[in-house]
Amino acid sequence: MTDQTGLKLVDLDEGGVDRAFRADVLAGMRETQKAIPARWLYDDAGSQLYEDITQVPEYYPARAETEILKTRGADFADAIGRSRAVVEFGSGSSVKTPALLRAIDPAAYVPLDIAGDFLRASAAALSEKFPDLPVYPVEADFMRRVELPAEVSAMPKLGFFPGGTIGNMVARTATDLLRTMRETLGEGSMLLVGMDLIKDRKVLEAAYDDAGRVTAEFNLNLARRINRELGGTIPIDKLQHSARWNDQYARIEMHLVAQEDIAFEIAGEQFAMRAGETIHTENSHKFDFRSADKQLLAGEWTPVRRWLDSEERFSLVLAEASIARSAP
Ligand code: AVI
Repeated sequence: MTDQTGLKLVDLDEGGVDRAFRADVLAGMRETQKAIPARWLYDDAGSQLYEDITQVPEYYPARAETEILKTRGADFADAIGRSRAVVEFGSGSSVKTPALLRAIDPAAYVPLDIAGDFLRASAAALSEKFPDLPVYPVEADFMRRVELPAEVSAMPKLGFFPGGTIGNMVARTATDLLRTMRETLGEGSMLLVGMDLIKDRKVLEAAYDDAGRVTAEFNLNLARRINRELGGTIPIDKLQHSARWNDQYARIEMHLVAQEDIAFEIAGEQFAMRAGETIHTENSHKFDFRSADKQLLAGEWTPVRRWLDSEERFSLVLAEASIARSAP
């Protein structure tokens, strides 16, 4: 699968193995603190499990953000205005989009996603709901600059990046992404971005370690995927999901913890873990108002409005593509 610039989105070897997946897993497993980039959590099973997570009682972010989108329509219309082209980064099933589209009556909708089939199906479903809205799906990796369809090039844009996914990146990567989004959207654009807030660590840890074990399955699915796709022999039953608040970095970390000394193979290479040793599989950074604003400014977006849900757990921040210059 290639994107519009001819860059390969998925590069399979002769045996059908995703080369980037294998390289990331092997490199990460050779580190002293074993770590695998979180994007590999999202194969088909992982994406479905993430959808399930958004429904579990402890996982408040999805509900809190939806509440903001459904109740602040008049504010959005006022602050964003009508007739922009809405460009959604990593649109997935576009579940949160209708509330925004109803509020701001855009001129076009451009969902961007790396999963082409899923993207086209979601775009078709959305077109049925909004028959008068031009929808231009683009199959692309939004971490790179994307050439938007010619039909929207003259329109002012609103980037939409919901869910708190910006928090899944370390600050440097988030900054790069925000700058890339600015390049994709162009001067005069706006960005509406979901940013989860720092709160009681018990609430945070429960959100990422629900009693129904859906998040545990989501995390363990990565080890299952390694066994299935990379000929791994990881003893899944000897790994346990853990979600820990790291106060220094203001983030929830997901780990897979070895319950006893184990040894296994991945893609023909031998690995061992001591009891208690972990594989770090995801970060989910949380923000206060200052750190959220600093992150956006570092990415060359000036925050202009912030909306919270009624329990003040989650924020949607509106920013402008203009650099606030202050002396010196
Ligand atoms: C996709 N992302 C915003 C989720 C989060 O809350 O960081 C991923 C997730 N991981 C475990 N639960 C949800």
